[in-house]
Amino acid sequence: MERTFAILKPDAVERNLIGKILERVESNGFKIAAMKKALLTKPQAEGFYYVHKERPFFGSLTEFMCSGPVILLVLEKENAITAWRDLMGATNPEEADEGTIRKDFAVNIEKNSTHGSDSAENAAFEISYFFSELEIL
Ligand code: CMP
Repeated sequence: MERTFAILKPDAVERNLIGKILERVESNGFKIAAMKKALLTKPQAEGFYYVHKERPFFGSLTEFMCSGPVILLVLEKENAITAWRDLMGATNPEEADEGTIRKDFAVNIEKNSTHGSDSAENAAFEISYFFSELEIL
């Protein structure tokens, strides 16, 4: 069993898509091991996305991630990291495959509805950034 970290971003929460996206999570065999709603502060968002701090979209991305509540998730499944990225689809919804979450729900490359860890190392960092081990069941 592998763990990955996921976020339902402000654009998804604002459009009442939590239930529709979680339905896909569960029907695709993921176990929701931890979940909470949060309104991120700018420093929290900047720390979370620090790997992107030199990218031109960093300021806009971190502003967007604080613009409304998000859902933070720890998901468990065999090969969860790859499986969740496959289910989300490409970062840019215009390039996402049919039937993926981002193809169906994302607004654009920034407001792309969901986040997922891209490696085991980043999953460990991202999970521990928001959850203690005691909250993961
Ligand atoms: P996410 O998977 O959370 O990882 C970084 C985020 O930056 C990405 O989803 C998008 O929301 C955002 N972003 C905005 N512009 C770009 C871009 N040009 N390339 C990649 N990510 C971008």
